[in-house]
Formats: sequence, structure tokens, C-alpha cells
Amino acid sequence: MDLETRPLDPIGVEIHGLSLGEGGGGPSEETLAALRRTVVDEGLALLRGQRLTPDEQVALGCRLGPLEPMDLDRDGRAPVLGILSNVGADGAILAADDPRMRLVRINERWHTDSAFREVPASFSIFTAVVVPETGGDTFFASLERAWQTLSGEDRKGLLGLNGIHDYRSAYRSEADPASVEPISSDPRVDFPVRLHPIARRHPESGRTSLYVAEHMGGVEGWPEARGRALVSRLVAVATHEGAVYRHRWRAGDVLIWDNRTMIHRAQGFDPRHARVMHHVRVAGSEPPIPASR
Ligand code: SIN
Repeated sequence: MDLETRPLDPIGVEIHGLSLGEGGGGPSEETLAALRRTVVDEGLALLRGQRLTPDEQVALGCRLGPLEPMDLDRDGRAPVLGILSNVGADGAILAADDPRMRLVRINERWHTDSAFREVPASFSIFTAVVVPETGGDTFFASLERAWQTLSGEDRKGLLGLNGIHDYRSAYRSEADPASVEPISSDPRVDFPVRLHPIARRHPESGRTSLYVAEHMGGVEGWPEARGRALVSRLVAVATHEGAVYRHRWRAGDVLIWDNRTMIHRAQGFDPRHARVMHHVRVAGSEPPIPASR
């Protein structure tokens, strides 16, 4: 079965004529399989005007695979539904120095979701509930395309290298330097450093992608400065202006992306205005597979 799609520029597709909600019983198995294939092949799928309820969003995620616990953004609601917002449970805008705002700001760096896990997320399903009038866009680029643009020699040099994913230090760098708050007291960010291959093979498509992000601390076994320089160069290859899709959110939008091929970042926004986004992440099936070519 084919879905009705229109390309986004320069990466991803918009899907038309498909309702993801449970209203009519939700998408059929066949439709869901087509949706999954589309996201794996295109990296990113946009569906406008969906206005999913939290239960519908969770139900959709569960049909793509087991969900990750959202212990980063938990807000006392279903622990698999992350609420990424600058608004507290009481409806008041959070202060700029509220620790929860660090979780919002940290997403302003290029990253893939839950790289701090041994088995990082496969798909992310992100919905816009309240969007600010200006700012708060999300930017996406393809790590698979980036791999394809590298020279044969560059690719060969990356095979076998492991990147250092250090969420704790990325979070610490968002803190007030004068703060004495011990990081280990915050279970939302207290993750061990993970090593993942810099070139990974997609478990469904078999294609190779880079696996890099701005929060990385370098390359295993390399001097820190050299490792960081390589990571920065690779992130820049993936995210140069012509390679980036910029999503301007409307309330009700759903974006589904594949973290095994896509890198993304949030744009800052005026923190006096509300931005409320809901997020579920589908767990990966295994640790990132090192690419062999
Ligand atoms: C994220 O980086 O996971 C969230 C992106 C956003 O808030 O736009």
C-alpha cells in the first residue's frame, strides 16, 4: 500500500489523507506498516491537523514498538509520555533558571534522541500542543545523506571508531556555573557515558549513517581536542544550511522521525510565551550496529 506523500524540502515527506487518532479505530496494520516504511526510507514524516490526545499518541507509539520510559521529561503523567514545555503543572511559565528549562535548552544542540542509552530510540513521535507565535521551530538533517557525501577515504577512516556520548556533561554545561547542585542527585540526567559507533548500519534498511551529535565528548582512544574537532566537522557536514529541513509548528502537527538516520535540534523561543510539546520514543531493537562499509 502507498501513502499519499509530498516531499518536504530538502528532506522528509508530508503525508496526506491519513488520520492517526483512534477515532475510526486508528490506522490499519497495513497503513501502519506503510507509515513505518516511509519513516525509515524518508527519515521524517509530517502529518498536520491531527491533534492527538496523550492516550492516542501513546497508543500509536506502542504499535511501532515498546516505548522508552520518559524519565527525562516526566511530569507526573503517563511515564512514557514526555512533556517538553516551559510551563509547569500549575500553568505558570517556568523561570529561566528552573532546572526543567535546562532540558528544553539542551535540545537546542544537534542530537539524536536517547543516545545516552545502551539501546537508543528508534522512532520519535512529537506533537505540538501549544506553539509560541515566533521561534520554537525544530530543524532536521539526515545523517544517512551526510555519510553518502563523505569521500571513500573519509568513510574508511571512520569505520571502527566509537563516539563518546556524555549527556551528564552536556547537562552540566547548561547549568549556572555558580551552582553547586550535584548532578548525581538528578535521576533525569544521571546517565553513564556511552560509546556508540560513529558509522552505524540501520537494522531495518541496512544502510549506513553517521552517528554524531553536538553533546559528544570526542572519540574513544583519541586526545579530546582531536576527537571533538572530528565530531564538530561531521556534525557540520550533516547540518549545513542546504541540508536542513526547518519545521514551523502548528498546534495539532505530528512529526515522526527515525533517530537512526536523523539528527535534530530545537530553535530557542521567547520563554515568556508558552510552548508545550508531547513526545513518545519507541525503543530501539539493539545497540547501534557498527557499519562495515
Ligand atoms: C527534542 O530535541 O527532542 C525536542 C525538539 C523540540 O523541542 O523542538
